[in-house]
Amino acid sequence: MDEIIAFCKRRGFVYQGSEIYGGMAGLYDFGPYGVQLLNNIKTEWRRANVQMKQNYVEIDSAIFKMPETWVASGHVGGFADPLSECKKCHTRIRVDKELGKIGVEADEKMSEKELQEIFDVNKANIKCPHCGAKDWTEPKMFNLLVKSNLGDFTGKGETPVYLPGEACQGIYLNYKNIVDTTRVKVPFGVAQIGKAFRNEISPRNFLFRCREFEQADTQYFVRPHENEEAYQKIKQERFDWYVNLGVKAENLRFKQHEHLVFYANDAWDIEYNFPSYGFDEVEGIHDRTDYDLTQHMKFSGVDLNYTDPTTGEKYIPWILETSVGMGRMFLTFLSDAYTVEKVGDNERVVLKLDKRLAPIKAAVFPLLKNKPELVEKAREIYAKLSETMMCEFDDNGNIGKRYRRQDEIGTPACVVVDFDTLDENSPNFGTVAVRDRDTMEQTRVKTEDLEKVL
Ligand code: GAP
Repeated sequence: MDEIIAFCKRRGFVYQGSEIYGGMAGLYDFGPYGVQLLNNIKTEWRRANVQMKQNYVEIDSAIFKMPETWVASGHVGGFADPLSECKKCHTRIRVDKELGKIGVEADEKMSEKELQEIFDVNKANIKCPHCGAKDWTEPKMFNLLVKSNLGDFTGKGETPVYLPGEACQGIYLNYKNIVDTTRVKVPFGVAQIGKAFRNEISPRNFLFRCREFEQADTQYFVRPHENEEAYQKIKQERFDWYVNLGVKAENLRFKQHEHLVFYANDAWDIEYNFPSYGFDEVEGIHDRTDYDLTQHMKFSGVDLNYTDPTTGEKYIPWILETSVGMGRMFLTFLSDAYTVEKVGDNERVVLKLDKRLAPIKAAVFPLLKNKPELVEKAREIYAKLSETMMCEFDDNGNIGKRYRRQDEIGTPACVVVDFDTLDENSPNFGTVAVRDRDTMEQTRVKTEDLEKVL
């Protein structure tokens, strides 16, 4: 993973947030290639979850929501982790994570004494990851919601407006609008890619646990108790989506939640076998019953019952959720594609991304930099191809180095303009060499067919 993190920085995929000021924990910025990869993952996610579904729509809700949202959702009361601090160096840890799976859910309403009894951090012999001491403060519950002072002009922070702890609440708040203004009928789905913020006590593992991240969510509204078949189908579809986009099936697995939140009917994770960390959650698939809409109906006072247009029957739909962090998806695709290969006596790093995800689809090179006629033709081809796909022009260094640079960022094809391209007496006149990233083989392609072939 360290190698992948270094690669992400070196090749402009991901940077530490606010790096010139020393960096901020749990925040990352996507660089030029990273943004392209991220956008391509989003495009494929939308293709599968909106475009190719006949009964799904997409929304984009405002980040800020009425504070009652987070009371109704349970986040103000119960979205908390138990935290202890090293008495020597003040490093903070999540006690429940450090103690491993002890089968107990921490609850914000627990007294510190109860917490101390359950998460007996000082007896557990836990070493501080920073200074190695084993002297901890008693655990305290720490709420993960991030507060802001939007619209609070008292200067006292008395009426905080929260940043979303999960993106999906925007879908629940708009459920009635969607039913009233579109032609959707239960069962139907709503998709959204939105930002989430959590005051994670110990952000860790690069993009895996951040304080600001994006979630790609689908919420599927079904008739009460008509959840099971749809749930199994959605679970399998989401697993297959990763495999279809090139993730090795042996690196993916399902894991059922052992401890369900009180309102959930079932919950599974899709896990990926991350380098260094091993299997961990990429995506959650949750059967949330009617909890969310019932809560918002109670707190808002607005009737969120659905009326069946044929029978007139009224009910609160149950919700089947898929929720995945864009950063975790990004890390999954990148880790799975990152390959170090032997080529003769040398090594090459090649990002074997599915072509749909590759940040740059084609790189165009003149064989030699100091031959203006080759450069001119290569620039002409580059400009034309750029109308339909992300391309790069490169005339720097020898051709072998240029191939390696493109292999590293996963560019599926390198297009080379050489002397044959311009030589009317050559059988290859009017063609370019197209070199394949994975096989490293070259074929000649007519310039007018290039766009279609690529
Ligand atoms: N609406 C349901 C929900 O938010 P969750 O299991 O807390 O459920 C869903 O989060 C997904 O969001 C996770 O599977 C993970 O991919 C991503 N996620 C959660 N916390 C994250 C964090 N701190 N940093 C990055 N991604 C995170």
